[in-house]
Amino acid sequence: MVTKNKKLLAWVDEQAKLCQPDGIYWCDGTDAEFDRICAELVANGTFIKLNPAKRPNSYLARSDASDVARVEDRTFICSEKQEDAGPTNNWIAPAEMRTKLKNLFTGCMRGRTMYVVPFSMGPLGSPISHIGVQLTDSPYVVASMKVMTRMGRAPRDLLGENGDFVPCMHSVGAPLKPGEKDVAWPSNPVDKYIVHFPEDHSIVSYGSGYGGNALLGKKCFSLRIASLMGKEQGWLAEHMLILGVEDPQGEKTYVAAAFPSACGKTNFSMLVPPDGFDGWKVSTIGDDIAWIKPRPDGTFRAINPEYGFFGVAPGTSIHSNPNAVAMLGRDVVFTNCALTDDGDVWWEGLSETPPTHLIDWQGKDWTPASNTKAAHPNSRFAVLARACPSFDPVADDPEGVPISAFIFGGRLSKTFPLVYEAFNWQNGVYAAATMGSEATAAAVGQAAIRRDPFAMLPFCGYNMADYWNHWLNIKNKVTKLPRIYRVNWFRKDEAGKFMWPGFGQNMRVLKWIVDRVHGRATSAVESAFGYMPHYEDLNWKGLDFSKDKFLKIMHIDQKEAAAEADAQGEYFQIFGSRLPAAMEEERKNLKQRLQPAETAE
Ligand code: OXD
Ligand code: MN
Repeated sequence: MVTKNKKLLAWVDEQAKLCQPDGIYWCDGTDAEFDRICAELVANGTFIKLNPAKRPNSYLARSDASDVARVEDRTFICSEKQEDAGPTNNWIAPAEMRTKLKNLFTGCMRGRTMYVVPFSMGPLGSPISHIGVQLTDSPYVVASMKVMTRMGRAPRDLLGENGDFVPCMHSVGAPLKPGEKDVAWPSNPVDKYIVHFPEDHSIVSYGSGYGGNALLGKKCFSLRIASLMGKEQGWLAEHMLILGVEDPQGEKTYVAAAFPSACGKTNFSMLVPPDGFDGWKVSTIGDDIAWIKPRPDGTFRAINPEYGFFGVAPGTSIHSNPNAVAMLGRDVVFTNCALTDDGDVWWEGLSETPPTHLIDWQGKDWTPASNTKAAHPNSRFAVLARACPSFDPVADDPEGVPISAFIFGGRLSKTFPLVYEAFNWQNGVYAAATMGSEATAAAVGQAAIRRDPFAMLPFCGYNMADYWNHWLNIKNKVTKLPRIYRVNWFRKDEAGKFMWPGFGQNMRVLKWIVDRVHGRATSAVESAFGYMPHYEDLNWKGLDFSKDKFLKIMHIDQKEAAAEADAQGEYFQIFGSRLPAAMEEERKNLKQRLQPAETAE
């Protein structure tokens, strides 16, 4: 018998009756199984095997042009009460949604195989990990789940007879008619539904084969459902990278950092210390998601629930992220990148000069004269985390790593300084809750900020105001409370140029944070936003960055900051009576502090 788990057997049986697949296949998670599935995907045209001399054991998939990214407007939190989903989530009453889904799923796997994919988010058996099972009719999803999670027989056996799991139901929504040949990537102008049922912690996804919509262990389970489990059970599921910093004496510090998409989270997690940091090391535990639990040693301990990186390819280069370029040398599944004439992949930013001819992400001829992107802007790589040269083996430790600091950052061309430390926990929660990031095509001079609290706007599985409240309260569960920081790598000068070199140079800010959490660099400047470093507190060895420039990038303009505080007040109003009083209190305190003019020194 494949499993003795009663809930699992009953659920698979029920779903098979509904979806009517031709057969059911229980994944064992072996390499042989992965190779077999990849060979099938090559045979049916979903995968192109890349030139083994260039990129061994790697594949390129091209999705349907209508299925290239997460679909936030088709993502639903179907709680019994709409207020529990809150004003930042889409909501449909669960009974209505279940009827809709039942109709869509009836017979949706005809002609196809239903794969059963048991997976552990986090090291097997860790007190911080949880198990899920995905049912899917997409072998592309199965292959990707093998890279992104610990999947197969081991998590299935761990469930035992009565172990609990999060059921993750998925179909691309393209049943085959009798005699009809399988299509490489089902094209689906069909309605997509990415649905979460908070009351029973279940996930149903229909109509998409792509990334965050279809690899249900990632955003759906590890963020939306897990954030809710965290609220109920007293822990945190966050859109955060986790990295370790080791100083030349061997002191190791772990931090977790949240940035909205397209703000350099993967790059930061794989940072290479610049000149001037001899003997310093940065190691990567995770690049996207952190599960954080208060543990008996009085700390918040964090794991990366994922097993691989599913990163955005464009912009990844030897300059922006040398570790990523190295880890992508072999054993990678690429999606929607461009194909070179010698059977390798290419994307915008990989090299300064593009190849003279490519096949673009839609399978069409492309030259530098084409007026289009060769790789889709959201083209991706999926690769095992341990392939990264900076991968920290501690990522496999079931105990997780103790977190000393939480860092939050958005893309903000003005108003916000390079770095500041929140005055205390409550002030830090407010700093993270009001975080925003600029829309790229903002009106001239008027940067439109999309509020993205904690970088969780598309990922919080319940009312965002209750989530802030959870963050406020969880402080009491540990004795060693991390400090909270805001950073901004994206400030611009009057000429519209970035003021900060970013990438590896972010190490200079990271070192100040490490100094602060260990009780060094104590004489910080007290600004309206929080504690800021003096020029002398940062290590400038190896970088020409004058005190004058530093004072500019740290400057807080009183009028701009007051306008920001007013805009936050308007934003808070959408949460009505669910808004924690502490948020408004912090906002008023900021306005108060903004009365006198601010300078950094
Ligand atoms: C991601 C995202 O895919 O945040 O990680 O969109
Ligand atoms: Mn993400």
